[in-house]
Amino acid sequence: MCGIVGYIGRKEAYPIIIKGLKRLEYRGYDSAGVALLHPEMVIFKKAGKVVDLEKVADPTKTSATIGIGHTRWATHGEPNDRNAHPHLSNSGKLAIIHNGIIENYASIKEELIKRGYHFDSDTDTEVLVNLIEEVQKKENTTLDNAVRIALNEVVGAYAIVVLNIDNPDQLIAARKGSPLVLGIGEKEFFIASDASPIIEYTKNVVYLDDQEYAVLNRDGSYSIKTLGNVEKSHEIQKLEFSLEMIEKGGFEHFMLKEIYEQPKAIEDSLRGRMNASQGWIKMGGLTEYSNKILSADRFIITACGTSWHSGLIGEYLIEELARIPVEVEYASEFRYRNPIIDEKDVVLAISQSGETADTLAAIELAKERQALIYGICNVIGSSIARASHAGSYTHAGPEIGVASTKAFSTQVSIITLIALQLAEKKGTIPASRVRQLLFELEGISKKIEETLLVDAQVKEIAAIYKDASNFLYLGRGVNFPVALEGALKLKEISYIHAEGYPAAEMKHGPIALIDENMPVVFLATNKSAYEKIVSNVQEVKARKGKIIAVVHKGDTHIRSLADHIIEVPETDEILSPLITIVPLQMLAYHIAIMRGCNVDQPRNLAKSVTVE
Ligand code: AGP
Repeated sequence: MCGIVGYIGRKEAYPIIIKGLKRLEYRGYDSAGVALLHPEMVIFKKAGKVVDLEKVADPTKTSATIGIGHTRWATHGEPNDRNAHPHLSNSGKLAIIHNGIIENYASIKEELIKRGYHFDSDTDTEVLVNLIEEVQKKENTTLDNAVRIALNEVVGAYAIVVLNIDNPDQLIAARKGSPLVLGIGEKEFFIASDASPIIEYTKNVVYLDDQEYAVLNRDGSYSIKTLGNVEKSHEIQKLEFSLEMIEKGGFEHFMLKEIYEQPKAIEDSLRGRMNASQGWIKMGGLTEYSNKILSADRFIITACGTSWHSGLIGEYLIEELARIPVEVEYASEFRYRNPIIDEKDVVLAISQSGETADTLAAIELAKERQALIYGICNVIGSSIARASHAGSYTHAGPEIGVASTKAFSTQVSIITLIALQLAEKKGTIPASRVRQLLFELEGISKKIEETLLVDAQVKEIAAIYKDASNFLYLGRGVNFPVALEGALKLKEISYIHAEGYPAAEMKHGPIALIDENMPVVFLATNKSAYEKIVSNVQEVKARKGKIIAVVHKGDTHIRSLADHIIEVPETDEILSPLITIVPLQMLAYHIAIMRGCNVDQPRNLAKSVTVE
């Protein structure tokens, strides 16, 4: 949450920062701001989006070659101009941008007020910049040392960049719990929350580790130290994605582009990890720790949101295929109870961003208790990927739309491979069944491409139900998590209340909601429970609910009962979520567009949730 960008070099900083902030807007869009050394300190900030900030920026004061910028997801204080970053210290000499939360800001603020400091905003960030100033004065030390000492006094999470009017040739950046990437150019440096603002200028990056800070100098020199004052040397890494991958490529929205990218994303996630005709599966991370993983008492899957839904599908797949008991935990709950977990457990942590604070904290807890952590992340080099003992990247490519789509399908395909490899090694299913599923998985992208053709039809259904106040999504077995995911997609981008339920649970409560105004989306592709689903459809029909059913091509039975059917290609039931989710993503997308919502940046949300 919150996006931060910094630049020091020979180019004009302002356009680089503005472009970077637009790329990071998915992380938060409550307000935006920049600070430039012109050489006087120039600050522009505004509630709203980066385009609103551009309107208030004075073009005669944007030629600086050093600056910092921020796009905010509000934590402390309303999203107004006053609380927008950057924040200035009382002397006006230091400006800071911050992503994260300073938990002990109240006591620090009290102390600073006693020492004569005043505060213009309600933010924890303004407290931090004044603490740095106070430390620098008291200790009579360099700014970087003052940053280090101050950060040792704060509790919480942060990624910060500090600009100093007394040293226009230096930027200082630090992180703990919030991501920060340094782009290393030719006598220039870029700093950002992720690599998207950097990729256009350099592919050479350094990922700062937790509790580290960097001093970046205009002459091209830089140093990295721990907050304990120990010098660090980091290998420069090469970015693997291209600029095109983070642009819309002709689509109106990132979400739509990412829905359509799913066949390719799944192919990328499977590439080099399996071959159906040769009959092999190779998940590198699993091989490395194979003894521990194969002898695990149980798997605990922990994640949040959409990633938690793919975890539920993972539970189904791993138990069904590999016969290993699985528990799926909301990371936010897991971390705050006293879970029974030890060295015989394997924890699968799933996260698109790899930065979700709750998931990261759940991992730390499980690590303390000696469990093996297997990370399934999309963002390379992310905190969760680095905190895991082993893992697999999903290789979905950058996902910019706040509503997760291709990340979900690639997570499911990776978990399918994990389940199959474990099943093969444990001999829990016949080799012929492993082979059959590999063939089906290899061909799934073609079937998703075919599924994408339902778009126009889904759009028509969206037009009919766009004004509904509630939606119910029902599925059974492996399609129950798909119902949850379909409901989440709809509520997060269209603001329509939606609930996902196991279809058979409907009669234990939600059935009371059904009347002629209630659209009910059925996932009705499961062969194993087909008759049961038909009964559930009948129950809704009897109460005049409007039935939208996702069925296999050629299904005539449900067609005769439903108000609308969406036909999708048939696949093996346990792989069906990869197909059935597609029309639900499209339904949410079209409804949201018809309601005039911002699908890529829905209200109150941010792409990576780096606060608790
Ligand atoms: C999905 O559409 C959501 N925006 C959200 O639930 C997301 O999946 C969740 O915040 C977890 O994020 P992660 O996968 O990056 O950890």
